[in-house]
Amino acid sequence: MTEKAEFANLLQESRMFEPSEAFKAQANVNDNSLYERADEDFEGYWEDRARELEWFQPWNTVLTWEPPHCKWFEGGKLNICHNALDRHLDGPRRNKAAIIWEGENYDTRTLTYLQLHREVCQFANVLKGLGVKKGDRVAIYLPMVVEAAVAMLACARIGAIHSVVFGGFAPESLRDRINDCEAKVLVTEDGSTRRGKALLLKDTADKALEETPCIKKVVVVKRPYGDPYQCTMKEGRDLWYHDLMAKADTDCPCEEMDAEDPLFILYTSGTTGKPKGVVHTTGGYAVGAHSTCKYVFDMKDTDIFWCTADVGWVTGHTYIAYGPLMNGVTQIMFEGVPNHPHNGRFWEVIEKYRVTIFYTAPTAIRAFMKWGEEIPQKFDLSSLRLLGSVGEPINPEAWIWYHTYIGREGCPIVDTWWQTETGSILMSNLPGVNGMKPGKAGLALPGVCIEIVDDQCNPLATGSGLLVIKKPWPSMLRTIWGDDQRLIDTYFSKWDIQTYFAGDGATRDEDGYIMVLGRVDDVLNVSGHRIGTMEIESVLVEHPKVAEAAVVGKQHEIKGQAIVAYVSYKGDVSHVSEADIAELKKFVADKIGAIARPDEIYVSHDLPKTRSGKIMRRLLRDIAEGRELGDTTTLADPSVVEEIRKQLA
Ligand code: WTA
Repeated sequence: MTEKAEFANLLQESRMFEPSEAFKAQANVNDNSLYERADEDFEGYWEDRARELEWFQPWNTVLTWEPPHCKWFEGGKLNICHNALDRHLDGPRRNKAAIIWEGENYDTRTLTYLQLHREVCQFANVLKGLGVKKGDRVAIYLPMVVEAAVAMLACARIGAIHSVVFGGFAPESLRDRINDCEAKVLVTEDGSTRRGKALLLKDTADKALEETPCIKKVVVVKRPYGDPYQCTMKEGRDLWYHDLMAKADTDCPCEEMDAEDPLFILYTSGTTGKPKGVVHTTGGYAVGAHSTCKYVFDMKDTDIFWCTADVGWVTGHTYIAYGPLMNGVTQIMFEGVPNHPHNGRFWEVIEKYRVTIFYTAPTAIRAFMKWGEEIPQKFDLSSLRLLGSVGEPINPEAWIWYHTYIGREGCPIVDTWWQTETGSILMSNLPGVNGMKPGKAGLALPGVCIEIVDDQCNPLATGSGLLVIKKPWPSMLRTIWGDDQRLIDTYFSKWDIQTYFAGDGATRDEDGYIMVLGRVDDVLNVSGHRIGTMEIESVLVEHPKVAEAAVVGKQHEIKGQAIVAYVSYKGDVSHVSEADIAELKKFVADKIGAIARPDEIYVSHDLPKTRSGKIMRRLLRDIAEGRELGDTTTLADPSVVEEIRKQLA
């Protein structure tokens, strides 16, 4: 049997992989003490974690839980930027690299903690100079440049609430996110490259800015590394980052924030057409971000941490902008992609900087598998000591491949389950404590009350069910920006108001290990990115030729899920050409962003509906996956299915 065939046979993998004695001996935690402490005193456990940070003033109350609203560490005052930067400046970390930035085209930039602190203070003063005050919103639309982290930390420093919008989003998505939170200032960039192609963010932003009356000023980062490209600057509104910074004072004290003051808003897809502005607050989020870095990623002063996520997603917030810096490690911030200019780009970065902890997504791992293990084998990956996975279920084959070829069988893997709403990792093995099972995220972290329940919310000791969280945790979302009711409707209404429903299905085995199976709602997970089917549907129906649309997911070898859209057409279906289909795909990409571009679109005169007019999504999923369809005679118009099937052939 070839090695590849052996991997394919590992779908039923059930081995337990124990961390090595050497790893255990050096781990920040290597016994059950954290679990025991959390079991015996839930609030006390979280107080211990909070004490690992610096507070200007201690809290009076650990937790107030008036479901679905929680408050953590009330009365406490802190600043997350102080914890990420200032507190390191009095000791040996002062001149240590905080961020080593590697550009797509091999430019590099290193900022020590002292230098990053100075740049953040200056930018905080720039924001103040533009009239930004505590509680105001600042939108950040930047690619993976150091200035993205600087802008986020600067907002935190002065108590402004940042809303980072992923650089891949289209003008309308940016516009809606800016308007929903009424941001005053937008921070963006003139232009750079992605996979060698021009990425002109300011041009995209300009289109959004035509309909964002709340934005008073736009700060534009000029890329000294990119092409000598010059974007359009609007007189009186648009200002260059470097001009403002040259004049900015380097002294900017941290605002003393209440633990429950909002820190940021991050929009994420849900089951309606409108993205939700997930709100995180300061104290609890800081505790979650800091403690998971310390205990799940086992961060130490000697580590070089690299999280490959984009700052536009929650992973880039918690495990780039905040968590690693709060732990005083050196981290890599990488602007590029895994396969440009060659398929070994990631391994080259690991070799170059001697990365010790590497955190990436299963979709990337599956792509690496396809490209072949010969590629990583050309690089020296011996510096790695711990690997992480996030964003979607990791299939056992990919886990074993990651373990074998990247971890060289010596690195524990943390399969970390969490969500934009949870703020930080809630489920993972602790790498120095528990064994690992390929494909299983494992156990809830200490102080986190995850259960797998049946449809009636009865807890299941083993078997398949729905993933719920029965007690609040510090980095829990506090609300949906401007829409408290949506917090209840989305997460706390399936059973009772105390039970958070995550939207995921999961199974638990006899050892209590949990395998997260994926979303059970109308949210797709495409290459680790959440996309609501309703969002795509509502864009498709805006197209003049589309009457109705239904979007479903289909299993995809690399992306996890692919997007399949079914549309009913106004006009003669028999004349729909490939160009028409391509136009529809482009229409979606232009309106939402390339990540939402459907992989397949099928056109028919109507959608398959029941006689009462309900679109039969399950049937559409079966068609997409090529499954047996069973009885379709209950459909209002069975001929529709044939019409679609003809296009599949
Ligand atoms: C999925 C990303 C299985 C899950 C941090 C969740 C996972 C959604 C894992 C959140 C994992 C994330 N195993 N599934 N380790 N991590 N997911 O908000 O469906 O972009 O609900 O946060 O990703 O996606 P989000």
